[in-house]
Amino acid sequence: MVSPSPFTNLPATLAWDDDCLRILDQTRLPRETVVETLRTAQDVWRAIHELRVRGAPAIGVAAAYGLCVAVQRVRHLPLDAFRTALNEQAAYLDGARPTAVNLSWSLKRMLRAAERARVTDTLALYRALVEEATRIHREDEALCEGIGRHGLPLITAGCGVLTHCNAGALATTGLGTATAPIYTAQREGIAFRVYADETRPLLQGARLTAYELQQAGVDVTLITDSMAASLMAQRLIDVVIVGADRVAANGDFANKIGTLSVAIASRHFNVPFYVACPSSTLDFQTPDGRGIVIEERRDEEVTQLGGKPIAPDGIKVRNPAFDVTPHDLVTGYITERGIVRTPFDANLAALFGAAA
Ligand code: MRU
Repeated sequence: MVSPSPFTNLPATLAWDDDCLRILDQTRLPRETVVETLRTAQDVWRAIHELRVRGAPAIGVAAAYGLCVAVQRVRHLPLDAFRTALNEQAAYLDGARPTAVNLSWSLKRMLRAAERARVTDTLALYRALVEEATRIHREDEALCEGIGRHGLPLITAGCGVLTHCNAGALATTGLGTATAPIYTAQREGIAFRVYADETRPLLQGARLTAYELQQAGVDVTLITDSMAASLMAQRLIDVVIVGADRVAANGDFANKIGTLSVAIASRHFNVPFYVACPSSTLDFQTPDGRGIVIEERRDEEVTQLGGKPIAPDGIKVRNPAFDVTPHDLVTGYITERGIVRTPFDANLAALFGAAA
C-alpha cells in the first residue's frame, strides 16, 4: 500500500486490492505499521467500530469497499436475492458508528448506484458496486486537494496553526481535511508552526496527527488539550483548523470531543476558527446540532491509559466521543468549492444544497 501523496510519506489509509479491503491499523500507530486485510462484513464493521480505520471521510470510503466485501459471498445468488442481501449488509455496516455522516452517505450512494445499474446478472452488479466505491475513493482524494487549495491563504509565513484530533491524511484517502491547507502550505515552502492537541481519551492528536505531520517534515509541536487556551493567551496561535464528522444545515457541527472548548477559547482570544470539511460531511437533513447523535464509548477508554488503570475502580465515567460546536463560533468552512462564511445555512445550501 503506497502513500496517497509522496509528501505525507505514509502508507495509504486503505486500499482495494485483489477484491479485498486492506487498511492501515491506526490503533497501532505510531509504534507499529500493520496493514490488515478485511474479508467479511464483520471484519469491516469491527475495524470501523474499533477505530482501526477512523476519521469521517476514511470511514465513508472504507464502508463503500466494505459493502463490496460484504456481498462477495453471495455473488452466486440470483439478482433479486443479491439485492436483498445488499440492503441488509448496508444496514448492518451503517450501525458501526453513529456520528460521522460519511458512513451513511457513502452506503446510501452505493445503494443508489445499485438501483441505477442496468445489469442482467449478479456479477455485473457486483462489478458496478466496486466501480462506485472506487469513484467515492478517487473523489475523496480530490476533495482533500480542493480543501488544501482553498485553505492555503489562511496559512501565512510565521503563523501558528492549532488543530485538534486527527483530520489528517490518515482520516481520509488524500491530504486530509484540516491538514490539507497545512500540507499545501508546506509544499509551497511557507514556514509556519503547527500545534497538535493530544486529544484525550484516545490520543488521535498525539498518535496520528503529530506522527503524520512529523513524517512530512512539518514543524509540529504536541500539546495536551488543556494547554490550547494558554497558547492562545500567549498569542502563539493565529488560526485554528479542525475537521468535522457531521455538519448540520445551520452550520452547527460535530467533531472530536474537546473541539467545543477550543472553539470557545478561540472566540475569547479572537483567533479565527475554521472547519475543514468536504461536501460528503454535510448533512442537510439535520437542521441543527441538536439532531446529531453523539457516540458514547466504553468507560475503559477514560479509566485506562495504554491499557493501564489510572482511576479508582468503580468510578462513574462519561465518554462521549464527539461534541457539537454551535455555528456562531465558526469563522468559516473550508470546503472543496471555497470558504463558506456566515450566514452558513444560506451559504452552505447555495454552494452545495442541490448536489447534496
Ligand atoms: O473518533 P475518530 O478518530 O474517528 O474522530 C475523528 C474526528 O473527530 C475527525 O476530526 C473528523 O472525523 C474529521 S476527519 C477528516
